[in-house]
Amino acid sequence: MNRIKTIISICLLISLITIGNLYAQQKTIPQKVEDLLKKMTLAEKIGQLNQLNGDWEATGPITKDVGSKLDAIKRGEIGSVLNIVGVQHTRAFQDAAMQSRLKIPLLFGQDVIHGYSITFPIPLAEAASWDMPAIEKSARIAATEAAAGGVHWTFAPMVDIARDPRWGRVMEGAGEDPYLGSLIATARVHGFQGKGLGNLDAVMSCAKHFAAYGAAIGGRDYNSVDMSLRTLWEIYLPPFKAAADAGAATFMNSFNDLNGTPASANSYLMRDILKGKWGFKGFVVSDWGSIGEMINHGYVKNNYEAANASINAGSDMDMESRSYINNLAKLVADKKVSVSTIDEAVRRILTKKFELGLFDDPYRFSNAEREKSVLNTPEHVEAAREMARKSIVLLKNEHNVLPLSKDLNSIALIGPLVTAKKEMKGFWSLDVGDETKIVSLYEGMQQAAGKTKLLVAKGCDITDTSRAGFDEAYKTAMHADVVIMAMGERPDMTGEAKSRSNIHLPGVQEDLIKAIMATGKPVVVLLMSGRPMVFNWTADHVPAILYTWWLGNQAGNAMADVLYGNYNPGAKLPITFPRTEGQIPIYYNHYNTGRPAHGDNDVNYTSAYIDLPNSPKYAFGHGLSYTTFGYSNLRFSKKFLSKNESITVSFDLQNTGKYAGEEVAQLYLRQMVSQPVRPIKELKGFQKVMLQPGETKTITFTIDKQKLSFYNDQLQWITEPGEFGLMIGSASDDIRLQDSFSLVNTPAH
Ligand code: GLC
Repeated sequence: MNRIKTIISICLLISLITIGNLYAQQKTIPQKVEDLLKKMTLAEKIGQLNQLNGDWEATGPITKDVGSKLDAIKRGEIGSVLNIVGVQHTRAFQDAAMQSRLKIPLLFGQDVIHGYSITFPIPLAEAASWDMPAIEKSARIAATEAAAGGVHWTFAPMVDIARDPRWGRVMEGAGEDPYLGSLIATARVHGFQGKGLGNLDAVMSCAKHFAAYGAAIGGRDYNSVDMSLRTLWEIYLPPFKAAADAGAATFMNSFNDLNGTPASANSYLMRDILKGKWGFKGFVVSDWGSIGEMINHGYVKNNYEAANASINAGSDMDMESRSYINNLAKLVADKKVSVSTIDEAVRRILTKKFELGLFDDPYRFSNAEREKSVLNTPEHVEAAREMARKSIVLLKNEHNVLPLSKDLNSIALIGPLVTAKKEMKGFWSLDVGDETKIVSLYEGMQQAAGKTKLLVAKGCDITDTSRAGFDEAYKTAMHADVVIMAMGERPDMTGEAKSRSNIHLPGVQEDLIKAIMATGKPVVVLLMSGRPMVFNWTADHVPAILYTWWLGNQAGNAMADVLYGNYNPGAKLPITFPRTEGQIPIYYNHYNTGRPAHGDNDVNYTSAYIDLPNSPKYAFGHGLSYTTFGYSNLRFSKKFLSKNESITVSFDLQNTGKYAGEEVAQLYLRQMVSQPVRPIKELKGFQKVMLQPGETKTITFTIDKQKLSFYNDQLQWITEPGEFGLMIGSASDDIRLQDSFSLVNTPAH
């Protein structure tokens, strides 16, 4: 009898445990978060809001800590660590978290900006592809590799609109246009987060830097930003809204003050707009030390006040300033910060840790087997080469110098970047991959040149002023049929804290180009940089120019693919190239003014410079192909629409040359009369189309009120009836078809 009773009790116990587990599993994440929150002390809650660097490479000014971080993690004083990658190291840090009282897993964050182990082109280069599936795939691969390396969270995409190429971080974004920038923000968030958090190849994305960091006065990094709220809403917020709508898990606020209020304590940005109007449910991390830096701003007296201002304004996590961990408990005791404010921030962070599955298995992203099998696969390498090809912009190609013939006897490769390898990674690349795998231009040409002899001469350095190598370079060029020059910046001349007042091609490089041009040989110049540079003599005298940015691991192969025409370039500039620094800021979607200049040399009481043509050196949307394209037969479904209707506009696009190629056909609109005024043109659509020689395709755009709306002075998103100019072209300054249509109050007949 006792035996039966025992068996029954065991069965009963097992069923109770099973039911308990089932019930626990059926609990929603919000319920799990609340259960955990109830168990946490105030100190443990504050620990979740504290993010510190993992003592590897710092990406900001270092603060010397007392004691070890691992001990602090064991005490529950750190909720997230950045700049720790790799299965072995993330496991070690997670081990420490598992020794804390509540075993709350750490979040590992990392700047996976353009690749993890395989480096892809810098983001501005990828933006030049105007190819959303390719951009999404690049982020997808970066996430897959990073997640296999123990990373939970990338501090990307950087979605800051930038109109000033003196600003070094222009390399990290998608250029000057809100429409293109919004599509790219969406593609990158989708790429990083894949099928959703919790998947082992998905990492949290982080839309940054919120907001308007790219408008730093003078293009000087970290400088103040001062703009009308209408400009903020029209130009700088759209890519952030797109990222939020795409499901970005986190946001990062920015170093700059916006109209006098630092972004890290800007409740208008974080509470009114992001968490209020946009309903953002993720969490906001500060930038490196930005909360404490409000003392430097003169916004607060000390870290106590900084913590108070930031947490109340909606900054959920404090990266590296230690303001929260050192002051929030006292702020609560002093009744300056409520426990509910702390709880709201902790709730947002814990929710992401649950969504990532870290409470089920804190080590689920730190699997040595997966790390070995997922990184550096041939598919990833091929995707990097494809993305690099798509990012190369053909600025000029006179006399069809390009593509190169395979029958050349010899090619001279001249310049300081011919054999460069790690430089190809550009700024914000990680030291995870094997740098010997990076393909230089020289190596790419060796693969592609067949029987053609390659002659190499450096000629000069990047910034050095010595001309000692010119003679050898000249002689080398004289022995070749064609000269290819690899010129540009150093990769550390663009990026964070890398603003340049002078964005000319550095050193004596343009003098070297002049010297080589004097040989009379056909010359091709490849320009490598993270920003638009100034190179007017080269632009005016060299017959063929490719802007290759920093193309990542497969740079050399991609450049060779384009040089030999194995890939026909189809990229377009995502940012305006000025003639000189004096033109900055210069961007395509400007207002007309009361005295617009008509053409480059109209200085008769017009808005122009008397010492410079009015146009940029290269316009937004500019990029050539080895073939040519014809635009014709523009037609509308109707020329009138009311604001709840849409119309279509179509045209025929033909490949009128002899190479198959892709064209990015661009749609620009202009509201002719409006209060407030509207830009002379705004990108409102584009289609990237592959056409075989002679082939024609009909391209159709739909125009609806979304494309016609704008913010008025009361920041209302409105439409105004009236006439619209419609322009379709191959670049913002290369309009091929134009006409007009009208928005009317009543439904059109
Ligand atoms: C840096 C950058 C930010 C980056 C962070 C962590 O200062 O401003 O973009 O994600 O710190 O490295």
